[in-house]
Amino acid sequence: MKFKRVAVLLLFITGVSLSTDRIVLKKPPRSLDRYYPPVSKKFEFLSNMHTMSTAFTGIRLNVNDGNWEKALFWAKELKKTYLKTSRMVPEWKDYFKPSLAENLVKAVGSRNVDRVIDATKKLGKTCAKCHQDNQMAVKLLYHFPSFEKVSIEDPVEFMELKTGDYMKKLADSLKALKVYLIQGESEKAQESGLNFVERARQLRSMCSKCHTNKLSEEVIVGKDFEKSLSRMEELLSAGKPKKDEVFKLLNSVGMSCAKCHNVHLVPAVVREAFGK
Ligand code: HEC
Ligand code: HEC
Ligand code: HEC
Repeated sequence: MKFKRVAVLLLFITGVSLSTDRIVLKKPPRSLDRYYPPVSKKFEFLSNMHTMSTAFTGIRLNVNDGNWEKALFWAKELKKTYLKTSRMVPEWKDYFKPSLAENLVKAVGSRNVDRVIDATKKLGKTCAKCHQDNQMAVKLLYHFPSFEKVSIEDPVEFMELKTGDYMKKLADSLKALKVYLIQGESEKAQESGLNFVERARQLRSMCSKCHTNKLSEEVIVGKDFEKSLSRMEELLSAGKPKKDEVFKLLNSVGMSCAKCHNVHLVPAVVREAFGK
């Protein structure tokens, strides 16, 4: 019986997230800015989340060990941080139920496992509710710098363009290359193809605006990417490019586009949508 209760306690404490059939992205309140770069590098809000989560684990481990004194210590830590956090973002005040944190401290103080389970579940629900509404948007918005502010010089038209506009030009020359290759218009394919190669090469210049580690660049726009582009340049410059071979190279170049999009596109698009 004791074993079963402990198992239930484990379940409630670890399984605080609720499953859902849709994810809504609400724009987080501006007051959250204070706890994230560039305003603060300390991530105070996130740091409290880790403290509370660790405290939950502290309660669980110690209740399981029968060490009620230490469990009480963690319950008090949890309450303290919960109250502190509830004052950090005024717009989110109503997500917090301070009485439920107090309730958990009392339950642990009573050394009654059933009460602890009940109190944990109730408090955990307030965490889960806010997470469901806000966690994803905060992750996407506050953990990535803005691509909006990054500009790239277009090597074809010699203009500074914002990332999104640059991508459009890059993709346009890529699609023009495909169209003319399929139509068998070699000269036009050559022109748009060489524009594409130049623009694709230039992509690398943007990475260092955020990354200081060359490794991040290398895995996506490194030697293999450059090799495919150079080979494409050769084929296109030679006139009458071999269609199949160019398409094969485009596939490998496209892998780099896709990889970078997998990492960077979703946060960039969300930030843009929120005008952040
Ligand atoms: C930094 C890594 C990165 C690389 C490499 C990259 N992209 Fe992008 N791409 C982005 C980001 C970020 C956006 C979203 C920009 C925005 O909307 O602000 C984007 C958006 C796009 C868009 C949508 C543009 C729009 O706003 O409608 C297209 C099309 C595109 N990229 C094509 C490509 C192609 C083709 C390649 C490869 C030759 C490529 N990208 C390589 C990061 C990258
Ligand atoms: C008012 C809203 C709100 C409440 C209440 C809340 N959280 Fe969070 N929590 C967030 C947001 C927003 C994030 C995402 C923060 C980020 O990624 O920077 C988060 C993230 C987390 C994370 C993940 C941290 C990571 O590194 O990704 C944990 C764990 C967590 N919260 C625990 C808790 C616990 C435990 C409680 C309740 C005792 C709680 N939270 C209550 C808003 C809330
Ligand atoms: C606007 C800023 C910005 C730009 C521009 C940018 N990145 Fe990133 N990139 C990030 C952030 C933020 C992360 C998440 C990891 C982190 O927090 O350090 C990341 C993660 C990555 C990762 C996975 C983790 C790592 O650090 O290796 C790769 C790979 C990567 N970027 C490649 C690129 C490439 C290639 C380019 C240029 C074509 C590029 N990035 C341009 C900000 C940027």
